[in-house]
Amino acid sequence: MTAQLIDGKAMAADIRAQIKDEVEALVAQGNRRPALAVILVGSDPASQIYVRNKHRACENCGIKSLAYELDASVSQDELNALIDKLNADDTIDGILVQFPLPDHLKESEVVERISAKKDVDGFHPYNVGRLVQRIPYICAATPHGIMTMLRKTLGDNLKGKSAVVVGASNIVGRPMALELLLAGCTVTVTHRFTPLETTKAMLKQADIAVVAVGKPRFIDGSWFKDGSCIIDVGINRMENGKLCGDVDFDKAYDHVGFITPVPGGVGPMTIATLMQNTFEAYKSHIA
Ligand code: GUN
Repeated sequence: MTAQLIDGKAMAADIRAQIKDEVEALVAQGNRRPALAVILVGSDPASQIYVRNKHRACENCGIKSLAYELDASVSQDELNALIDKLNADDTIDGILVQFPLPDHLKESEVVERISAKKDVDGFHPYNVGRLVQRIPYICAATPHGIMTMLRKTLGDNLKGKSAVVVGASNIVGRPMALELLLAGCTVTVTHRFTPLETTKAMLKQADIAVVAVGKPRFIDGSWFKDGSCIIDVGINRMENGKLCGDVDFDKAYDHVGFITPVPGGVGPMTIATLMQNTFEAYKSHIA
């Protein structure tokens, strides 16, 4: 058996096209365009690429994108002042500060400073709390995009499926576990303090595995259950310049049921979901 590829690139293109149609219809009715403000601090090359892709996706969807490129030496007060200004601007629907930030800036302070209604990353404690309490408002883009992929691949009913999340970050692992729990899955989270043998044993019984460890090909493909659905969140650059995931794809491909490629899997869906979040915020702001 070989796996079926989960084509995140094609799914993302469909989502963007639908948003574009809906945006143009609302603009034709006399509404302003949706707008997303993206703040990049410093010149981390990977962050520059992610931010560029976000601006491109906005263009694609008819969403206005505003770029704020700040020097790496910007102070917390200056960054906070910019966020306050954007919070107060009624023509801006979403605010995103690209992470990671330079060490002297506090990501937790930034996350709480952005208005929960404009927090299209879904990182604000209010939005995380809403997901915890099963009344989601704005959900983090990567896990929410993965839920869209899982439902398109496995069907809408995920109740009772065994899901393992490898990695427990604020951006992916933790909200991913909450999304899967909300969908009725039986969820296990393993992380850097989990003995590798335990992670292996958990993966062997998992119908769904979401891997977000940030280490190239760290998870051996043979560890997965036959026929399972594998979501690889990792994007790692190898010495030859090519990208690879956190999963040893070739070994997994032989025996799992479904798997996301890297690139072309989770990455495009994260950005398409960010566009959905921005569009939803916009609709509530113009209502
Ligand atoms: N850095 C890596 N992933 C993300 C993300 O989803 N949002 C933001 N703001 N920064 C990131």
